[in-house]
Amino acid sequence: MSILLTGGVGFIGSHTAVELMNQGIDVVIADNLSNSEASAIDGIEQITGRRPVFYPIDVADPELLDDLFCEQSIDGVIHFAGYKSVGESVAKPLQYYRNNLDTTLTLLETMQKHKVKTLIFSSSATVYSACEQVPFTEESQPLGCSNPYGWTKYMIEQILKDLCVSDADLSVVLLRYFNPVGAHASGLIGEKPSGIPNNLMPYITQVASGILPKLHVFGDDYPTPDGTGIRDYIHVVDLAKGHVAALAYADRHQGCEVFNLGTGKGYSVLDVVRAFEQANDLSIPYEIAPRRAGDIAVCYANTQKAEAVLGWKAEKSLAEMCRDSWRWQKSQERE
Ligand code: UFG
Repeated sequence: MSILLTGGVGFIGSHTAVELMNQGIDVVIADNLSNSEASAIDGIEQITGRRPVFYPIDVADPELLDDLFCEQSIDGVIHFAGYKSVGESVAKPLQYYRNNLDTTLTLLETMQKHKVKTLIFSSSATVYSACEQVPFTEESQPLGCSNPYGWTKYMIEQILKDLCVSDADLSVVLLRYFNPVGAHASGLIGEKPSGIPNNLMPYITQVASGILPKLHVFGDDYPTPDGTGIRDYIHVVDLAKGHVAALAYADRHQGCEVFNLGTGKGYSVLDVVRAFEQANDLSIPYEIAPRRAGDIAVCYANTQKAEAVLGWKAEKSLAEMCRDSWRWQKSQERE
């Protein structure tokens, strides 16, 4: 079986490539490297002993994508490609709508032309962000996203649902990720944020290595036990395994299904700081700063559906997430 990973050089894509290849599945990657580095392909090869086929193309280019589908025999697609920064999407909404929607529409038209019927889509818990009830179940009704990035995920989910109504042979799985962190235990692949990180874990690892002086904790007056925001952090290797389970499910079913991929456990910002300090035996200086616009107090998953239907459950602890994130950061500094 041969699976196309759009955006397969990125953080979640590269870890998913490893888990698929570990299962003997052939991987073809299409990625324009706009927010990733080709060195991740070397990492995938070092970990698995095999090199994925790589097309350095923009998935929004219909001719280049068509060439790929003509040259490779693709059985299914996992669609990761897309811009992913919440803050940037607020500043550059047109860029986000154009890129994320164009990429998806071109991919779907090309799949239709080549009669490829299986798709797994990288969605996000951000579609829940205005809901009030936690834990979020797949049935939680989104009340509107707080930023253009979230809306692109929401809109693409709708496009895929509509497409499944039009073609009963399609099998589409929407995976709503919570907060992916960590890195492969080999230290050979991980997250490479460009510039100052927006997300908590890469920010903490850069404070730990002295690149940044201290962490700013965005708000300590939320209605949570310690006042800081609570999120569902999930190890990227667990998340990658969720894609393997979703692909196996998609092989057996038609229609469109949505699954949360989280751990079901929420940790506050200060819980993460303490876990990182303990796991790695160092200290993270921090100060309390004002709330960040658009943040919600608490976000974590109800994971029962993924457990029952996909037979998948996240296994790695917060301590492992912290250890693996730090190992990856140190390996970057040795380069
Ligand atoms: N935080 C800080 N300081 C920082 C960075 C973050 O205190 O420097 C706090 C945030 O306020 C929040 C928590 O750490 O309470 C997590 O923040 P992240 O930026 O790491 O993650 P978010 O939950 O804001 O967003 C992430 C992804 C989105 C995705 C969303 C889904 O970045 O792409 O999860 O829930 F949509």
